Amino acid sequence: MTGRRRTAEPYRIKMVEPLRVTTPEQRATAMAEAGWNTFLLRSDDVYIDLLTDSGTSAMSDRQWSALMMGDEAYAGSRSFFALERAVQEVYGFPYVVPTHQGRGAEHLISQILIKDGQYTPGNMYFTTTRLHQELAGAQFVDIIVDEAHDTTDRSPFKGNVDLLKLEHLIDEVGPAQIAYVSLAVTVNMAGGQPVSLANLRAVQDLCRLHGILVWGDATRCAENAYFIQQREPGYADHSVADILRQTMDCFDGITMSSKKDNLVNIGGFLAMRDEAILQRARELVVVYEGMPTYGGLAGRDMEAIAVGIHEMVDDAYIADRVRQVDYLGQQLLDAGVPIMEPVGGHAVFLDARRFLSHLDQEQFPAQTLAGHLYVDSGVRSMERGIVSAGRDPKTGANRTPKLELVRLTIPRRVYTDRHMDVVADSVIDLYERRESISGLEMLYEPPSLRFFTARFATL
Ligand code: F0G
Repeated sequence: MTGRRRTAEPYRIKMVEPLRVTTPEQRATAMAEAGWNTFLLRSDDVYIDLLTDSGTSAMSDRQWSALMMGDEAYAGSRSFFALERAVQEVYGFPYVVPTHQGRGAEHLISQILIKDGQYTPGNMYFTTTRLHQELAGAQFVDIIVDEAHDTTDRSPFKGNVDLLKLEHLIDEVGPAQIAYVSLAVTVNMAGGQPVSLANLRAVQDLCRLHGILVWGDATRCAENAYFIQQREPGYADHSVADILRQTMDCFDGITMSSKKDNLVNIGGFLAMRDEAILQRARELVVVYEGMPTYGGLAGRDMEAIAVGIHEMVDDAYIADRVRQVDYLGQQLLDAGVPIMEPVGGHAVFLDARRFLSHLDQEQFPAQTLAGHLYVDSGVRSMERGIVSAGRDPKTGANRTPKLELVRLTIPRRVYTDRHMDVVADSVIDLYERRESISGLEMLYEPPSLRFFTARFATL
């Protein structure tokens, strides 16, 4: 994307899905009925849905065709072997166990590898990943670099592990007390920030020395590989497919939510190199998901994932995907709106702490901003701050994360740049009248993953 020549999407549109346009009055009513929680809105009331990039991708004509080829056999489905082949070819893991989505795989690996009282260090938490680790008896320890918690720091690899933090933990508790190191590429909660190959290799070396497994969360691994190609010295001439493979070589196994980079609406898997772990995973998957050759998915879902796995490493596709996210981010930066920098791979994160600097964190600035953005323009976003962070399981106190963000998550191949323009205009208008926005109080709080169903009212 250098110089004055612009690029365009490496696909054309074959089918459209009409959207409903609502009035500000209708949206104010809808928001109040949803308890100021964007998760509780009806999608028919949403104009541009940037709640998540999860399961919201547009599938290609090839993926839709593949659905028809699904083998719905209860056992030994041909579609399982198509998925297995794609995982072997693109990721390089010999063994795969399908699951209904990413958290199904997180559940399995947490139950297999964690003993009660162990630690699971990771490069910032993700909600479902940490919860499954805690449910298996582990304590999560954040070992991400400090820059990740600073929305203004422009370092190129803010998802990296701070090796000193990891070494300290190993010294303090001993390697036997570490169930595994859990690494996400890219890091969702840090703003979709990437991890460098140099950092992954350093973590791998340190862990090998101590006999500790390194487990990857490969949910957005193609976006991570693209950032390595663009930013890490020595990789500009490598294909995204090649970099992705080198990334996977740093892991003993991965969990994958296929609902993101694999370009499908449902699915996930656990992949690994160790036969004993495979054996345990097959034993557990039949209890919680389904037979090891379908793991909670239909045969057709596995066919669509197999095609999506190859499409995600197409260099033109992934370059355009990340470009569109950046296109939105740059418009906001040009208008002076505080966002997480650099712009990440799947979303633009508004810095609600700086945006609504007159609100306390206990007044839920990010939740508030997400609500007002919806009322202003019908754009649905998601809180990633104090509500998402939940409570400390030991003390019961609110966790108070440094990052108080609103995520504008861009679905893959779904919206045009003009949709991004509408989003940018709305955010910029809100920023100009930010002083007039007051905070929220929480009226209902569920016991876990509270951000999904909590209800709020304006103060
Ligand atoms: N890991 C990461 C990094 C994720 O972002 C997600 C889901 C999961 C694991 C769990 O996968 O949803 O298929 O069970 N993230 C979604 C999001 C929910 O909106 O960021 P899942």
